[in-house]
Amino acid sequence: MCGIVGYVGNKDSLSIIIKGLKRLEYRGYDSSGVAISDGNTTRFCKSKGKINKLEKKLKKIKDISGPIGIGHTRWATHGEPSDINAHPHMSNSGKLLLVHNGIIENYNTLKEKLINEGFSFVSETDTEVLVNLIEFVKQSEKLKLGEAVQIALRQVIGAYAICVMDYDRPNELVVAKLGSPLCIGMGKNEFYIASDVSPFIEFTKKVVYLKDGELAIIRNHKPTIFRKISDNSKVLPTISRLELSLEKIEKKGYKHFMLKEIYEQPKAIRDTLRGRLNIKKGIVKLSGMDEYMDKFINCKKLTIIACGTSWHSALAGEYMFEKIAKVSVEVEYASEFRYRDPVIDKNDIVIAISQSGETADTLAAIKLAKQKGAYVYGICNVVGSSIARESDSGSYTHAGPEIGVASTKAFTTQMTILYLMAIKLAKIRGVISKKSFINYLHEISAIENKIKIALKNDNLVKKVSKKYMNSKNCLYLGRGYNFPIALEGALKLKEISYIHAEGYPAAEMKHGPIALIDKDMPTVVIATNKINYDKIVSNIQEIKSRKGKIIAIVSKGDKEVKKIADDVIEVPECIESITPFITVIPLQLMSYHIAVMLGKNVDQPRNLAKSVTVE
Ligand code: G6P
Repeated sequence: MCGIVGYVGNKDSLSIIIKGLKRLEYRGYDSSGVAISDGNTTRFCKSKGKINKLEKKLKKIKDISGPIGIGHTRWATHGEPSDINAHPHMSNSGKLLLVHNGIIENYNTLKEKLINEGFSFVSETDTEVLVNLIEFVKQSEKLKLGEAVQIALRQVIGAYAICVMDYDRPNELVVAKLGSPLCIGMGKNEFYIASDVSPFIEFTKKVVYLKDGELAIIRNHKPTIFRKISDNSKVLPTISRLELSLEKIEKKGYKHFMLKEIYEQPKAIRDTLRGRLNIKKGIVKLSGMDEYMDKFINCKKLTIIACGTSWHSALAGEYMFEKIAKVSVEVEYASEFRYRDPVIDKNDIVIAISQSGETADTLAAIKLAKQKGAYVYGICNVVGSSIARESDSGSYTHAGPEIGVASTKAFTTQMTILYLMAIKLAKIRGVISKKSFINYLHEISAIENKIKIALKNDNLVKKVSKKYMNSKNCLYLGRGYNFPIALEGALKLKEISYIHAEGYPAAEMKHGPIALIDKDMPTVVIATNKINYDKIVSNIQEIKSRKGKIIAIVSKGDKEVKKIADDVIEVPECIESITPFITVIPLQLMSYHIAVMLGKNVDQPRNLAKSVTVE
């Protein structure tokens, strides 16, 4: 993970870099640092903790300004968060400074080699090894920075996005990428480097996404040179135009990004559906699927790969594809799939889901699936992300930037795409009638309003949250379509309030979790299901008779559960396949309120990062 920022131009780079780092804080926030060159002298500053700590430290440094600079916000991999392990890292001569996002897997071997050459190290990081490797190559082969970076990187195994400065060449930055994201904002006589486009969105709309294995030498008032690291051949960059606006990445009056993103869900889903539904004509348009229609018609099995919350949406997708389209589905953690030698061939479809489009395990799993000949369909939120580019085709969720580390609108919009895919597949495979297809279309287009209604219960959810905020554990139960929601509800609570929570299929409770039930253990039961409703009611009875407390999510007008649950939150009535979109709303709100009441950092929970670009 980690976020990197760089600037080459005429403005003072420090403020641009600090602002940029704040926008990238979602990628990691345990320490940060900057290095700024005024053309003669390069000064740097690093600090453990969030960017505001770095800012405080910077105030004490005289004359730290200049038109070229680099910055970093860290999520620790090698070495605990500390001033010393923070980036930029400096080479032994003190001339090279480097920021890095990724992991150098063979850093131990490289480190030994460098120690034998007389190099010494002050930090525990793999990055310090890399900057010294570049220095070693530069000195021993008498090369310019760009050439030295290129040759050094050929010895590196792992993932990186790097930005390097050289005291001897104060007007240039060298950047390179493999596995971790990096893009260059192309301004007028100025260049912005960043892990994603948010640090420079207000300065330029022109962006080059560096591809894996590419390097760029960025110089003041001179054209940027793009090369392939492997053979030094020239690369012609593609300049894309950004559609994102600054407004979209700000809080707009909400106390936290997470709350804003929860409330944005009706609009986000509308944006996901835009241009894809035509109820009158009975059409679902997903161009990524249309292009490969034969594959979808003939496929025997779908495998869905993802991590974290995206994995939960994959699980909801499994119910949709199996129940509606009658296709066999397997849902896999990308991290397991990539090392399991899965049985996949050219007739298989692999769907990869990722908000960021940069999750290292998902990316590696896609590459494996492609090697085995499978066709890969990507569902991503971030346009132009690595997973989007690596997939054969796919659909963007168009949810807008998701900044809160705990994923919310990405989840419901991913399910929206899966739902559209499932009903489209059901139609083209002839397994549902036209009438029922149209009915599914009506149901999905009504979601926006139903979520708005569910959000109106926010005050009630807040009250209920207050009652249970001091619990040490919490169980979440759901069946069928609501089982993935039980998992997602539990994950949300864990992530941001650090309360231990487990999600279970309701019927599995008797095989273990029931042993945990007592008066101090609340259970959230999602009881909207029409199928198996009586069984859920029995599960609730079982908990009550062991003095457990019940928070029930029920459909409007529910009678039975209301009589026995301690607290009840209603959501609008809908068909079974739509329930996960609605029942997740009170659970997102509940985890949010509990975390706020406990005084936790909702948008930047400890130890987590939004985009996990390491294994
Ligand atoms: C991290 C984030 C989660 C996210 C997961 C997968 O763990 O904190 O919110 O669900 O990565 O990320 P992706 O971008 O692939 O959906």
